[in-house]
Amino acid sequence: ATTLGSAASAKGKYFGTAAAAYKFSDSVYTGLLDREFTMVTPENEMKWDATEPSQNSFSYSSADTIVNRAKANGQRVRGHALAWHSQQPGWASSLSGTALRNAMVNHITNVATHYKGQLYAWDVVNEAFSDNGDGSRRSSNLQQTGNDWIEVAFKTARAADSTAKLCYNDYNTDGVNAKSTAIYNMVKDFLARGVPIDCVGFQSHINSASPLPSDYQANLQRFADLGVEVQITELDIAGSGTTQANTYANVVKACLAVTKCTGITVWGIRDSDSWRSGDTPLLFDNSGNPKAAYNSVISAF
Ligand code: XIL
Repeated sequence: ATTLGSAASAKGKYFGTAAAAYKFSDSVYTGLLDREFTMVTPENEMKWDATEPSQNSFSYSSADTIVNRAKANGQRVRGHALAWHSQQPGWASSLSGTALRNAMVNHITNVATHYKGQLYAWDVVNEAFSDNGDGSRRSSNLQQTGNDWIEVAFKTARAADSTAKLCYNDYNTDGVNAKSTAIYNMVKDFLARGVPIDCVGFQSHINSASPLPSDYQANLQRFADLGVEVQITELDIAGSGTTQANTYANVVKACLAVTKCTGITVWGIRDSDSWRSGDTPLLFDNSGNPKAAYNSVISAF
């Protein structure tokens, strides 16, 4: 039977989902995970608070559970995320300056080394730009360690793992706007200066208030034209019925039209698994039945 993964594979793309290790005892959940998806992103298990709960003491068991399960099923894994202002352990969020910079580098080195050779890609830096419309960096403890923190993160990740593709990942970057343009300029600068970067992730959390921009495909294409791979990394679309189904299909069509768009990951399996379940933004209902959006994704491939 056709699945999300097989439909995408027929066009040379992957179709992934975020997965949570604590749900692996739910057979409806694992049934869909194993059948439908060819890529897996740990939803929370690789974040800084999960992997380094106290400084320089690393905890990989939940993330390893996901990676090993994916491998056993022939699925690939996107690592998420090495450096981010959110979901930091308390000890890190209270650091600043050189101590925080050194802690970030140590974190990236350890985690990327642990998963060396096992991941398709890493979200090396997540959500580093602000939403205030001027293309500036988000003010965070990491940003306050110096504007070069992003390139240091990418260089550190490359030194630890030479095979994972290194991605910059962000949200509200789905059309051509001040935020996506600032990221575009950063990527262009990194490529010009030899800072390692292989891919840009577009989270694509789509709300009814800000629907899919008409220049979604053009925005993906301008990044692809720089020479980096583009990926839809956390797709979820608020709504229901035909409207939601059509928007999902439009995301698939945009990725198909951009050669360097290698795949799409949805941010969870059933609506009830979503971090914003009230928006019913996913492809399966709470019982695990496929929604109209599921069928439209398959047809769009
Ligand atoms: C979310 C998870 O889905 C939730 O379970 C968690 O409580 C908060 O984080 N952008 C990201 C993801 O990059 O890591 C976030 O995931 C959603 C927004």
